[in-house]
Amino acid sequence: MTLWDGSRPWLVTGHSDIRTALRDPRLSSDVRRHGFPFLSAAQAEAIGEALITFIRMDPPEHTLQRRMLTQEFVVKRMEAMRAQIDATVDTLLDEMTAGRNEADLMQAFALPLPSIVICHMLGVPYEDHSYFQERSQMVQDTTAAPQDVNTALGELARYLDRLATEKASAPGDDIVSRIVAGQEVPGHLGHHEVVGMALNLLIAGHETTANQIALGVLALHRNGQWEKLVADPSLVPAAVEETLRHQSIVPTGLQRVAREDMEIGGTAIKAGEGVLLQIGAANRDPATFDDPDALDIGRDAHRHMAFGFGVHQCLGQPLARIELQSALSGLIRRLPGLQIVRPMADLDFRHGGNIYGLHSLPVGW
Ligand code: HEM
Repeated sequence: MTLWDGSRPWLVTGHSDIRTALRDPRLSSDVRRHGFPFLSAAQAEAIGEALITFIRMDPPEHTLQRRMLTQEFVVKRMEAMRAQIDATVDTLLDEMTAGRNEADLMQAFALPLPSIVICHMLGVPYEDHSYFQERSQMVQDTTAAPQDVNTALGELARYLDRLATEKASAPGDDIVSRIVAGQEVPGHLGHHEVVGMALNLLIAGHETTANQIALGVLALHRNGQWEKLVADPSLVPAAVEETLRHQSIVPTGLQRVAREDMEIGGTAIKAGEGVLLQIGAANRDPATFDDPDALDIGRDAHRHMAFGFGVHQCLGQPLARIELQSALSGLIRRLPGLQIVRPMADLDFRHGGNIYGLHSLPVGW
């Protein structure tokens, strides 16, 4: 395919080719490597200025940083947070429904839920959410001017820099305090890298799940599955996996560059050529999923690649799953008659960013 700058990376769409490619160490995630397929001028320029985080690194650099966080996101630790996440769902639904029968599900529920959770985990005050949400949306906007993206990144970095400095003298029971404390140990992260890591988690931790919740609710309605779920809440975990498969929030594919000459699905790729692995297409590959365009919460969707695969497979996956399950359970229990109150053509979809989704989702009950 041809990108904004005329460069021509390969677009890979098959499930089995993508799965194989994501395990191949010859494909690099390192943005500093020549030929990396940037999705916009803003993304290309911002990388030069900003903090490069481990999602954009290769092993062993990547392994070292990721390992520092694996304990923070293990399934057992996330399961221990489930009751608290359920309680947050209830509080948000109380506030959303108080005295009214219509609301914007995105702003009143889907966005605050993961945002509150990740703020709590990182030790970031949730009161500051409009400050960092506005800036993190700008960072992900591939249509924005490079200068605006850089300003937003710089402001976010300064905000987290201040926070990390405060945590050094007054640590709390949170991830930023723990990585700041680890920075004293030789071989661990410097202050700049701690800020980069916190920035990565803050951005990855809320925009993703928020859009996945909203797209999931919309898709369940559009495909006649909402009533089925209301009738049988034990289908919630399967519905989460199926909506992850059917609705991809990664619009353009996972970005990689070939480190050496290689082949993907019989096609020769030269060293230095960009590769985009379109996980949304893989999730609709008819060779892997029967009748893939149909959303069916009765199917076994566990082979989807919504969270990627291989060494960079989503670190926050156990958390995202619990948030998505808790959100859907809460909605069908509290608002079984939920309706989307605008026609599809009037919905405000979020195009032109690194994350696909909705700016708003007007609902009634
Ligand atoms: C429905 C929600 C989510 C989806 C669909 C999603 C998807 C993904 C995907 C596809 C990747 C792989 C990127 C690549 O290979 O280049 C990834 C990586 C990552 N995700 Fe998520 N994510 C979600 C939620 C979260 C949450 C809640 C967090 C928590 C902080 C998170 C943190 C991360 C991190 C840190 C990485 C980088 C892992 C690495 O490079 O080793 N994600 N995510």
